Amino acid sequence: MAVRIAPLSLDDHDAVLELWRRARLTDHTNLRDSRASFARQLRRNKGLYLGAFDGDRLVGTVLGTHDTRKGWINRLAVDPAYQRRGVGTRLLRACETALVRKGMKVISAFVMEGNEPSLNLFRRSGYEPALGAVHMRKKLEPDA
Ligand SMILES: CC(C)(COP(=O)(O)OP(=O)(O)OC[C@H]1O[C@@H](n2cnc3c(N)ncnc32)[C@H](O)[C@@H]1OP(=O)(O)O)[C@@H](O)C(=O)NCCC(=O)NCCS
Repeated sequence: MAVRIAPLSLDDHDAVLELWRRARLTDHTNLRDSRASFARQLRRNKGLYLGAFDGDRLVGTVLGTHDTRKGWINRLAVDPAYQRRGVGTRLLRACETALVRKGMKVISAFVMEGNEPSLNLFRRSGYEPALGAVHMRKKLEPDA
């Protein structure tokens, strides 16, 4: 298996949503996961939205973002048929490298309690618990 890591493009959008469903990450397809929003994000996060490809088949994703203070790892996911072969770790490393090139010295991720595969991956990749219990809140705009 020669899985390569490469930037995602808008043409990958359908495959990205399908991959997230297969990996049981999310079945969202609207708001920030809509095609139009994905296109905007790709423009603003050049080189940070990465895919793992086996030939033409998308088998993993990571969406790197930063808010100028801190880098964020989002939507790290690997096709179940490709898990446990180091693809998630490679995606994470590639995204970290791209974020560091953009000047980020701190990189963070939110991981749901109980997601042991992800918690283990981040622990093995050098991430430490940053806070105690975090209560995350979100608010949607009325037209969302
Ligand atoms: C988390 C995820 C991306 C890991 O991808 P992966 O390609 O399997 O990861 P790797 O092969 O690089 O694994 C690295 C380490 O993570 C840990 N890990 C990965 N899968 C694991 C599992 N099922 N159970 C326990 N630990 C696991 C192990 O420590 C592993 O190292 P090892 O194989 O040498 O023991 C993948 O399980 C996934 O897509 N999960 C569903 C989506 C998700 O929850 N994403 C994270 C959102 S925060």
